[in-house]
Amino acid sequence: MALKITVIGTGYLGATHAAAMAELGFEVLGLDVVPEKIEMLTRGEVPMYEPGLEDLLRKHVAGIEGSTGRLRFTMDWAEVAEFGDVHFVCVNTPQKHGEYACDMSYVDAAVESLAKHLGKPALVVGKSTVPVGSAERLAARILELAPAGGEVELAWNPEFLREGFAVQDTLHPDRIVVGVCSDRAEKTLREVYATPVGQGSPFVVTDFPTAELVKTAANSFLATKISFINAMAEVCEAAGGDVAKLAEAIGYDERIGSKFLRAGIGFGGGCLPKDIRAFMARAGELGADQALTFLREIDSINMRRRGQMVEMTREALGGGSFLGKRVAVLGATFKPDSDDVRDSPALNVAGQIHLQGGQVTVYDPKGMDNARRLFPTLGYAESAEAAVRGADVVLHLTEWREFRELDPAALGELAGTRLILDGRNALDPVLWRKAGWTYRAMGRPAA
Ligand code: UGA
Repeated sequence: MALKITVIGTGYLGATHAAAMAELGFEVLGLDVVPEKIEMLTRGEVPMYEPGLEDLLRKHVAGIEGSTGRLRFTMDWAEVAEFGDVHFVCVNTPQKHGEYACDMSYVDAAVESLAKHLGKPALVVGKSTVPVGSAERLAARILELAPAGGEVELAWNPEFLREGFAVQDTLHPDRIVVGVCSDRAEKTLREVYATPVGQGSPFVVTDFPTAELVKTAANSFLATKISFINAMAEVCEAAGGDVAKLAEAIGYDERIGSKFLRAGIGFGGGCLPKDIRAFMARAGELGADQALTFLREIDSINMRRRGQMVEMTREALGGGSFLGKRVAVLGATFKPDSDDVRDSPALNVAGQIHLQGGQVTVYDPKGMDNARRLFPTLGYAESAEAAVRGADVVLHLTEWREFRELDPAALGELAGTRLILDGRNALDPVLWRKAGWTYRAMGRPAA
């Protein structure tokens, strides 16, 4: 009998995982505690913008014409416990208010609600990003609460998907990491992931703490790479060098690699910033804080970039106050191909300039609704052209393809002043300068 799978929590991670499991051929039941999300998903609609996800969902959600019917959603814990052989826990672990540590309340609540109903053998698989040590604690809690006792096991299987590439990363992961306590758990997870493993995804088996640490270590390394190149950008600015050339040149060394070396206003989103902070907090609890003090510096280099973008804008406008200055901002999301504005560097820069008296008008291809909700007092325009009309300066803060394809000459006709500052080092300086724009980017010479 094929395994039956449940997915608890239907955010970016859970919704994608549920659809991907159905795509792999399993019967899947997804659960969320937010009724609106369940209603949307049941209609085959995705509550966020994620390329390809809605199509995949509609291919499998029961009741949609032509679907395989393998994917359903519910809010009923007893139904989930009764249905599933494998339960994936995909709820979020945000930063605690006013602290670096991670808020485990959603994971704890999900595991407890599920465990109470587990009356038959099952494997509970944690996917959420958690502080090391959580799996061991949760395994004990499940043993305490589950009516089936030792017949219910826990495994930890961190997720490495990127927003914007969630479907691809889930169906074709570059590695699958499983923290297990028994051969039985490993065997079950090998069955779940037989297709991607058959297609070549490496399958790494570890203990609980290693599996939990792989995730935070990976995100810390990525954050470090970005802050490294941004530190080089600061030095390039001081010394008159060009960080884009520098990144290209060091990237040819295969040991360094060219990815994640794009200097600019730095990293944001719902993962990297909170994950490095939670990692520092946890290391502190374990008495290993010295090992991670460098992450404090990674965080400060990153946060400094936002202020530096504001100062670069001030300087480009002639110094002094932003009062009365019209500033067009292209991009609000924390990265392209997502509508996510959580801890977005772009929105942070827009907000700072607005709060200092600038007249800021923001345009983003997909993030407008979320941006308006988070920062309702900013000005918003329905297109890049409308945002740029009459502007004293244009800030390029999220590198959407739409912005790279803008026609600098046509846009120049609309702008008050042809002055563009590229906070992502993603536009072609030659094109913009040829169209009469003053183009400046972080960590690169002025002309
Ligand atoms: C990140 C990791 O890349 C995923 O592997 C991980 O699964 C995920 O967090 C998570 O923990 O759930 P994501 O937050 O979607 O994924 O975004 P990234 O593509 O990592 O980008 C993060 C930030 O870094 C963005 O703000 C992006 O603009 C910035 N960035 C990225 C740079 O500033 N420079 C670069 O060269 C690359």
